[in-house]
Amino acid sequence: MIYLDYSATTPVDPRVVDAMTPYFSDSFGNPSSVHRYGQVAEAAIDSARETVASILHCRPDEIIFTSCGSESDNLALRGAAYAVRAKTGAKWILAARVEHPAVTRTLLHLEKYDGFLIKWLDVDEYGMVTPEAVSRAIGDGTALVSVMYANNEIGTINPIEEIAGICRAKDVLFHTDAVQAAAYLPVDVQALGVDLLSLGAHKFYGPKGVGALYVRKGTPLVAQLTGGGQEFSLRAGTQNVPYIVGFAEALRLTNKEREQRVTHVKPLRDQIIETVLETIPDSRLTGHLEARLPQHASFAFKDVDGNLLLTLLDAAGFACSSGSACKTGNPEPSEVMNAIGLAREWGLGSLRVTLGIHTTTMDVDSFLNVLPGLVEKARKLTV
Ligand SMILES: Cc1ncc(COP(=O)(O)O)c(C=O)c1O
Repeated sequence: MIYLDYSATTPVDPRVVDAMTPYFSDSFGNPSSVHRYGQVAEAAIDSARETVASILHCRPDEIIFTSCGSESDNLALRGAAYAVRAKTGAKWILAARVEHPAVTRTLLHLEKYDGFLIKWLDVDEYGMVTPEAVSRAIGDGTALVSVMYANNEIGTINPIEEIAGICRAKDVLFHTDAVQAAAYLPVDVQALGVDLLSLGAHKFYGPKGVGALYVRKGTPLVAQLTGGGQEFSLRAGTQNVPYIVGFAEALRLTNKEREQRVTHVKPLRDQIIETVLETIPDSRLTGHLEARLPQHASFAFKDVDGNLLLTLLDAAGFACSSGSACKTGNPEPSEVMNAIGLAREWGLGSLRVTLGIHTTTMDVDSFLNVLPGLVEKARKLTV
């Protein structure tokens, strides 16, 4: 089986496992305990927080560890929305149409149950949120803007620095979901100019079930998980020490090895994009050609059932993914396919191929050998 779905998740780096292991059974203390067991656990968390802060170029007390990227998004959006409304009465939240459900569904919830008003920002044909779109939509009643750093489905990278600048000039908080971006792009919060930034470890060779939220000092935020005073009283619950240690080690390695990882995956990705567009009739790239994640190739094939294609690929030994909204029954094109303006007969036939540090030239060659035949087969079987 050849794994080409690194944007879904990545295997945990053995070096990360090594860093985590002592904190399961040997140094198992509760970081809130006063005694030495607690001190050892607390020191591990402090050190992890410092590592993350040094990579993000922020202060350690601006990092809140969470249970996943989704929780980071929830804390950022709900926490800031409630806090800003309480302070200023602002109720509008702006977000891109193509955000991950961790953002879109959270905002729909805020709209349905909490009286917030959501303005969905349109994207261009590449799935990019333009600074102009933000400028047009932002206004006096805007509480918060959320635009993802890089898109999970189509890999497009947004102009975060410019969007952050627009928000700052209007004195509006800006959150970015960097869950996909962090594996390959720098996450320097000063250079990006963001107030809130979400991360999840399992996208960069860390464990599943741990994330982090950067919260710029002074950003108003209401805790969403209440209880003990952990994480500066912004996220209650005994910290998951081994996973937090794993998060920091995975991010440290990602930061250190970024260049070599990019150098490894980018030519392979380019080979996939070029070959697919050349050899498969009625195929197109989705997302931006240049402003895209270096490990990310995504396509739409006309008159192909994307889920059927995934099943055929799986049977042939390749793990990829698509963007259609349901696994069985009557699939619909994803929000992202609709937002970039693809007609239904294209939008249903999406394919995402994402590479990683273990992907080899041979993997890519064998994938490219079988894909054209499988697309043709899927097309014939698609009614
Ligand atoms: C852009 C983006 N945001 C948020 C998430 C959710 O992250 P997690 O799985 O850690 O909750 C994902 C996961 O695929 C993602 O791609």
